[in-house]
Amino acid sequence: MYARAAQIIKTSKRCIAFTGAGISVESGIPPFRGENGLWNKYDPETFEIQYFYDYTRQSWEVIRKIFYDLFGKVVPNTAHFALAELEARNLISAVITQNVDNLHYDAGSKIVHEFHGSLKSLVCLKCRAKYKISKVDLNVLPPVCEKCNGILKPNVIFFGESIPEPAKTNSFNEAEKADCFILIGTTGTVAPANMIPSIAKSNGAKIIEINPCVSEYTGSVTDIFCKEKASIAMEKLMEEIDKL
Ligand code: APR
Repeated sequence: MYARAAQIIKTSKRCIAFTGAGISVESGIPPFRGENGLWNKYDPETFEIQYFYDYTRQSWEVIRKIFYDLFGKVVPNTAHFALAELEARNLISAVITQNVDNLHYDAGSKIVHEFHGSLKSLVCLKCRAKYKISKVDLNVLPPVCEKCNGILKPNVIFFGESIPEPAKTNSFNEAEKADCFILIGTTGTVAPANMIPSIAKSNGAKIIEINPCVSEYTGSVTDIFCKEKASIAMEKLMEEIDKL
């Protein structure tokens, strides 16, 4: 299975990695669904954009607890580093990630389409000024804009918000062009992200999936299913690629 996957990656013209929360689980970040899933503990409604507008402080308190208390304290794992290495060897052209944890960049990946934005910056709801998280004091919630005193919001996509550009256009373009997708750690339950692997498949791309559990993709678009944790599977894949 890994030998076949390695062969497909090595001979592909344009291979893309498509990642979800599962790739960061071994870095200590819980997934949203399944075992230890965040949605088992927190109501996803907290991440509706209207809830953020209506209950800004309560929403910020949950966001800080779930995301920012960990953000910047966790490090990439073997799987993130393996994808950065595959990019360095020109074996993958980009990563499309649903994650907002910045771990692909931290691992050295250069081209990362952050489909749901990133925790590393915040935006003012009033004047749209952008702030690096390192420049914002989260001890006082909600954080406000120095320029206009507007409320700052993490630059991540809440339920009900549209996908940011250029990540959206770049990601759908990759789905049209790629002849190989490596899906890592995603349930495939959230649109429109979950359309991307299906579009790639319909354009003839070979789909390699890495996940310890089956997902929405496994029985539909996946060609090679590596039923394994991301770091172990990527280690095995790199070993096979090195043999070619
Ligand atoms: N290695 C690989 N995959 C793993 C691992 C691991 N060690 N541990 C868990 N997984 C898999 C789970 O089996 C599951 O399929 O990771 C997946 C995590 O699924 P979700 O939590 O639903 O994450 P994701 O698919 O990225 O969610 C998509 O939903 O809530 C929104 O915006 C949020 O970006 C997120 C989107």
